[in-house]
Amino acid sequence: MGEYFGEVLQRALNRRDLFKTMGLLGAGVLVSSSCGGSGSSGSSVISPSSSSLSFKTIYPNTEDRITVPDGFEWDIIVKWGDALDNGENLNWNRVYEGCTQADVDRQKYCFGYNNDFVGYFKASDGAEILAVNNEYFNPELAFKDFLDLTTLKPKTGRPTKEESMLMLEAHGVSIVEIKKDKDGKYTYVKGSKYNRRITGSTPINISGPAKGHKLLKTSKDPNGELVYGTLNNCSAGKTPWGTLLSCEENFNSYFGGDLNNISDSNIKNLHKRYGIPSSYSAWYGFHLYDDRFNIEKEPNEPFRFGWVVEIDPLNPNRPPVKRTALGRIKHEAATCVVSKSGKVVVYMGDDERFQYIYKFVTKGKYDPNNREANFGLLDEGTLYTAKFNDDFTGEWIMLASVEAGKITVNSNLPDIYKNDPVLVFIDTRGAASALGATQMDRPEDFEWNPITKSAWAVMTYNDKRPSPNAPNPRYPNNFGHIIEIKEEGEDPESTKFKWDIPILCGISGSPDTNSQLVLYKKPASNDTPSISAPDNIAIDKLGNVWIATDGNPGKSRLQKNDGVYVLNPFNKELKMFLSGIPGCEICGPEFTNDYKYFFCAIQHPGEDPEDTGRILSQWPYLNDGVKIPRPSVLFVRRKDGKDIYA
Ligand code: FEO
Ligand code: CA
Ligand code: CA
Ligand code: CA
Repeated sequence: MGEYFGEVLQRALNRRDLFKTMGLLGAGVLVSSSCGGSGSSGSSVISPSSSSLSFKTIYPNTEDRITVPDGFEWDIIVKWGDALDNGENLNWNRVYEGCTQADVDRQKYCFGYNNDFVGYFKASDGAEILAVNNEYFNPELAFKDFLDLTTLKPKTGRPTKEESMLMLEAHGVSIVEIKKDKDGKYTYVKGSKYNRRITGSTPINISGPAKGHKLLKTSKDPNGELVYGTLNNCSAGKTPWGTLLSCEENFNSYFGGDLNNISDSNIKNLHKRYGIPSSYSAWYGFHLYDDRFNIEKEPNEPFRFGWVVEIDPLNPNRPPVKRTALGRIKHEAATCVVSKSGKVVVYMGDDERFQYIYKFVTKGKYDPNNREANFGLLDEGTLYTAKFNDDFTGEWIMLASVEAGKITVNSNLPDIYKNDPVLVFIDTRGAASALGATQMDRPEDFEWNPITKSAWAVMTYNDKRPSPNAPNPRYPNNFGHIIEIKEEGEDPESTKFKWDIPILCGISGSPDTNSQLVLYKKPASNDTPSISAPDNIAIDKLGNVWIATDGNPGKSRLQKNDGVYVLNPFNKELKMFLSGIPGCEICGPEFTNDYKYFFCAIQHPGEDPEDTGRILSQWPYLNDGVKIPRPSVLFVRRKDGKDIYA
């Protein structure tokens, strides 16, 4: 344990317990319905202390099957390649043996690959809809003999054009209606009018301050207002008016070419800051078959990615929009909550080592009585980045605000941003860095907890951290942690906050203080399930924090399958709810509005965390003779029909 961390921990232990001071223990609290999305089900009085989580914990394992606690059951709702229209499913065997143009054409209408965020929406006609991000693609699992097992790179000539274009069409977002059958099991509705694919080639409007900026203009779009496709859609959020905010994360992965052949030094520097080009481009081959992914030919195309994309799952005819006022980063998630004054606050993280946390506060107010009035709300407002102090306080530093097309930037920003204010939104990382934002350990998901009335921010891990800072006290941080941000006045609009670390992930009972699982500043008991690499989270009606992990299998972590855990912030207990498949990460998590069903996504089952070319699973073994593992979305429910958290 580093000296600095010891100091921070000691000071934390000396503080009065956060929750005791909040008076939450033992007291009934009002469940607010201010949390975003269509998921709120009104207000009711509940008692967190007497509640919840009666299930017997499971423990991390390496089994090639889904494990849930006794009394629960699960099934697959939809998987990669399932037809969303009335046509045929993807011909998985042919894709594996030698992908054709016919397969590329089918993929445009079939459920995408590597399901990440899962959002539950309900239409006014009662239709239940899942909006699911399709983050990336594993050609080494989906295409036969793709890798050269000596170099661990794609073989010469791979991916083929068809493989590459199929991957492009398997990215993006899949929107799918789901329905319960007579046994109460969810299946997807083939051919539903709500079903929709948004892929790496779908036209998407640009709105907000960066629309029409010179850096967004390309030969295919000389006006800088229409992008083809959305890529690396990782996590997301739901707006209070029932739209999806899908987040473009590692968009750099798709761009190839040589930075040295770009003459404009400003563009070169901006691309460097975002990791463009990327060696991963060889796995996708987009730049080999489509010039817009070759930065030598289209140096501005990467500026058209890295945004939050608003999509209306309830209206298949509404075009998606990239909302540039929310900044351009490697967006993990975009969690909405309505502030006390009625504005919408969007919490966001930039998932890369040493990157920053952000929030956006709309200028206008959410109108719950007029859905249409809220489209465009995310185009005007103020973008902030977070600075954490080591006395457990912090502040939101204003980067820039935009109103009626006029941008006001922070007066402490360097001239480059003052001379071209739109740059704050395009080079958001550079602006945050210039203003002294705190470097975090890979910020992943955010959620507003309506019971603790605080924002929960997930730092997945940072095995390269050489020295600590207050909110990232471990170095290296191999296991990750979660930070609770308590906004002043419990108002998400505030610019000051206090913070704490409810969970430092790790191994329960480990004698190594840098590796041990710590819950609310106390080492966890030996019978608590170990946890690492927290990623996506969801908060249930009682304030429990459901944590999906992405990294348990790693060598420096648990070497077990990823899973779903639940932290009860009131009795401070952690339990494990679900264990996944070798090589997969678990995404979602999500609930139905009545909390009878839990949803999660099994992403990249079979992927080798050590990149040695092994295929770790062919799950879900569907008896169709197909060797390829298939990313899938699941539901889980209690067999006794009670609420999922009962
Ligand atoms: Fe795609 Fe940050 O996880
Ligand atoms: Ca993630
Ligand atoms: Ca979430
Ligand atoms: Ca992750």
